[in-house]
Amino acid sequence: MAKFERIVILTGAGISAESGIDTFRDAGGLWEKHRIEDVATPEGFARDPDLVLGFYDQRREALKGVEPNAAHKALARLEAEFPGDLLLVTQNVDNLHERGGSRDVLHMHGELSSALCTACEMRSPWDATLSDRPKCPVCQAPSLRPDVVWFGEMPYRMGRIYEALSACDLFVSIGTSGAVYPAAGFVQEALMNGAHTLELNLEPSEGSRFFTESRHGPASVLVAQWVDEVLGG
Ligand code: NAD
Ligand code: APR
Repeated sequence: MAKFERIVILTGAGISAESGIDTFRDAGGLWEKHRIEDVATPEGFARDPDLVLGFYDQRREALKGVEPNAAHKALARLEAEFPGDLLLVTQNVDNLHERGGSRDVLHMHGELSSALCTACEMRSPWDATLSDRPKCPVCQAPSLRPDVVWFGEMPYRMGRIYEALSACDLFVSIGTSGAVYPAAGFVQEALMNGAHTLELNLEPSEGSRFFTESRHGPASVLVAQWVDEVLGG
């Protein structure tokens, strides 16, 4: 693999699939069991907060029973050994990148291990339930919601992401269907800026045509192989 100096990586639910976390749009995925409008929109939360808080409580609890896989660990090795610039952006709200050893992870859709107070708008680390309406650790109001970006809401730290996309010479997309914007448009941003674009996914995604290179198979195999190439074995 050619020598790259500035890498941006985007991960999606597929990187956590082999750890046992359901993806969204594969067979049996989360969106077959729940309606997005009911559990992943502000309107759904306003309509039935108990349903939404319970949905994320169940997903947060499930995190305690799964482990990071070889793909998460390979990206942690890349972060530790790659001499150039590296930005890891994830659409995932799980904590498997961190538990796999990555120290600098940009969660553009938020994370299950954080709670957002709708009264004071402060965030707090959170690994308990929210259905029992605990008090915000900052302002004491019983107004905590999942710190997860819902459909129609703005993702986090987009300025930092676009800044990195404009300067990168390699963009790698791992385990995402390319179905949801703005993440689905990152590959075009990178391509327009002259970057090499690589897709590592189980099968072609909706954005495959924008990748100069695509490798199809399980992330636990493909990501470890690719990191070996980048670090020279
Ligand atoms: P979008 O229009 O890009 O959504 C594409 C797909 O998402 C649709 O094909 C559909 O499958 C689903 N979808 C989106 N809104 C839906 C709805 N109200 N009801 C049913 N399905 C819906 O997404 P968008 O509405 O433009 O929202 C994009 C914003 O939401 C972005 O900021 C994105 O980061 C954020 N987001 C967050 C999450 C999350 O769960 N954290 C998921 C997706 C999107
Ligand atoms: N290895 C690699 N890729 C895999 C694996 C695997 N073991 N298993 C599944 N995949 C791929 C699928 O082929 C699919 O392209 O992962 C992708 C999962 O796609 P989605 O379920 O749509 O998940 P994602 O792309 O992360 O969704 C984007 O939509 O609803 C929102 O909040 C949700 O942030 C998410 C966003």
